[in-house]
Amino acid sequence: MFITSNAHKFGEIREIMNASGIDIIWKKMSYEEIQEDTTEIISLDSARKLSVMIPEPFFLEDTGLYIDGLGGFPGPYSSYVFRTLGNEGILKLLAGIPGKASFITVVTYFTGKDFLQFKGELKGSISNNPVGHEGFGYDPIFIPDGYTQTLGELSVTDKNRISHRSRAVAKFVEFLKNTENYGK
Ligand code: IMP
Repeated sequence: MFITSNAHKFGEIREIMNASGIDIIWKKMSYEEIQEDTTEIISLDSARKLSVMIPEPFFLEDTGLYIDGLGGFPGPYSSYVFRTLGNEGILKLLAGIPGKASFITVVTYFTGKDFLQFKGELKGSISNNPVGHEGFGYDPIFIPDGYTQTLGELSVTDKNRISHRSRAVAKFVEFLKNTENYGK
């Protein structure tokens, strides 16, 4: 069971897990995130709080965009900054600063007992303008290393070949393959 209010995240993760023969149930709900220093801590805290209400196994994920030239900002503040500044605001902040950046996703899996984390990273750079209408969030301003297109120009399938989220989920799937619940 995957908990998120974000249909894009669900769509991406469903594709990856289905390809490995795992069906996932979408529990569509939003939850409050603490403001903390790392994506790991935020992801773990959310899972801990939800586990009080939801006793069966579930997972969720937290993602941050870390821009080198801005000291890692917005990082754990990615959600708030996207709502307030948006992509245009980030581009204004970056004027003149080389835009190396990375996305980090941390999946936290609650087994019903323990909390396990799986991390994925995608390195790239920030574009000069927003380009593309695929994906969501910061996708239109993020160019993965080795690409000339932004994530906003890639289909879900192409984004999944390289993305932070797919790398974290691939590790999670590897873990599940070695457990008795595989495929359930
Ligand atoms: P959260 O994981 O939902 O807290 O995401 C933080 C912020 O990053 C939100 O504004 C999302 O829209 C954005 N975000 C999360 N994942 C991605 C992604 O894969 N691409 C682009 N933006 C993302």
